[in-house]
Amino acid sequence: MTILQAGLNSEKKPVSKLRIPQHDLLGVDVLDAGDVATILDLAEYYVVQNRRRSLTGALLKGMVIVNLFLENSTRTRLSFDMAAKRLGADVINMTADGSSLLKGESLTDTLKTINAMRPDLVIIRARAEGSAEEAARLIDAPVINAGDGTREHPTQALLDALTLRRHFGHLEGLHVAIVGDILHSRVAHSNLHLFKKMGVTHSCVGPRELLPLGVDGTQDITEGLKGADAVMVLRIQKERLTEKLSFTEEEYFKAYGLTAERLALAKPSAVVLHPGPMNRGVEIDAALADDSARSLITTQVEMGVAVRMACLDLLTRGLRGAC
Ligand code: CP
Repeated sequence: MTILQAGLNSEKKPVSKLRIPQHDLLGVDVLDAGDVATILDLAEYYVVQNRRRSLTGALLKGMVIVNLFLENSTRTRLSFDMAAKRLGADVINMTADGSSLLKGESLTDTLKTINAMRPDLVIIRARAEGSAEEAARLIDAPVINAGDGTREHPTQALLDALTLRRHFGHLEGLHVAIVGDILHSRVAHSNLHLFKKMGVTHSCVGPRELLPLGVDGTQDITEGLKGADAVMVLRIQKERLTEKLSFTEEEYFKAYGLTAERLALAKPSAVVLHPGPMNRGVEIDAALADDSARSLITTQVEMGVAVRMACLDLLTRGLRGAC
C-alpha cells in the first residue's frame, strides 16, 4: 500500500499485509523495507483511531503490558502507555525508583521476575546497550526496545519515518540532515538503518567529538544542510558523555544551533524534526521549534502514539490467534 492509498483508506484497517515476522521489536536493523511499510501503513489507520479519543475495539482487552522504564522518558513512556490503553490493554508502569533494583537486584533477575508473572508484552528502556536483547532472551512474551543506551530506539525511527512520509507523501529520494550529537544518539542510529532500507539519503553534521568514527559526517553546517528536505536536530546527550566537551552551550548554539536563518541553507521547503527532549537555545532556536509552518516536532509526538499502537497490534497477533 502506498502512502496515498493508506491516507485515503486510513478509516479502514489495511488488511493486505498485517504481519511482520519478528517476535520482538529490538531494532530497525532487523526490519526490511516491507516490515517498515507494514508498520507505517497500519499506523496510518491508528492515527485516525487515536484522534477519535476512544478505545479501538478493545483489541488487547485482557492483556497486561509491562512498561519498564529504567531511564527517564516523557514521550516514549507516555505514548506506549496511551497506545496500549487505546487498544484496551492494562498497563503496569515500572521505573527503577521504587523497585528492588535500588536494593541491588540485577537487571537479569528483574527480567526473570517479570517473566515469571507471565505478562503479555514487555516494553523496556534501559541504559545499557543490549538490555532489550537480554529482555527478549529472558522473557517469553514479545519485547519492544524503547531505547537501549546508544544502540537503537526503533519506534522513534518509525515515528520519524511516518512523520516524513505523511508530510512529503513518500520516503524514497528524501535527503535528511542529522545535526548534533550523533555519537551518543540511539535515535540517529535507528534512523540511519531505516534511511538505508527506505531509500533516504542523509548527511551527518556536528563537532568532530560528537560524530562517530566510520560515519561519513561533516563539521561544516553549511555543507551539511545543503539540499536537505528535512533537518533532524539532536540534543547533546550529557548523561552519556564520558569526557568534558571542548565547547560551551553558547559556542555550540553559535556553530550548530538550528535557526530560521540556518534552515535557509537547506531546501526552501525544508522541515525540522527533533525527537525531544529539546534544549531550546542550545541545539535549536525556540521560535523555530514553535514555528508550525516549518517544525514537525509536535506531529512527531502524535505519530508516536499511532506507530506504537501499530507495533502493539502486530506483535500481539500471535497471542490473539489473529491470522
Ligand atoms: N524521543 C524520546 O525518546 O523522548 P523521551 O526520552 O522523552 O521518551
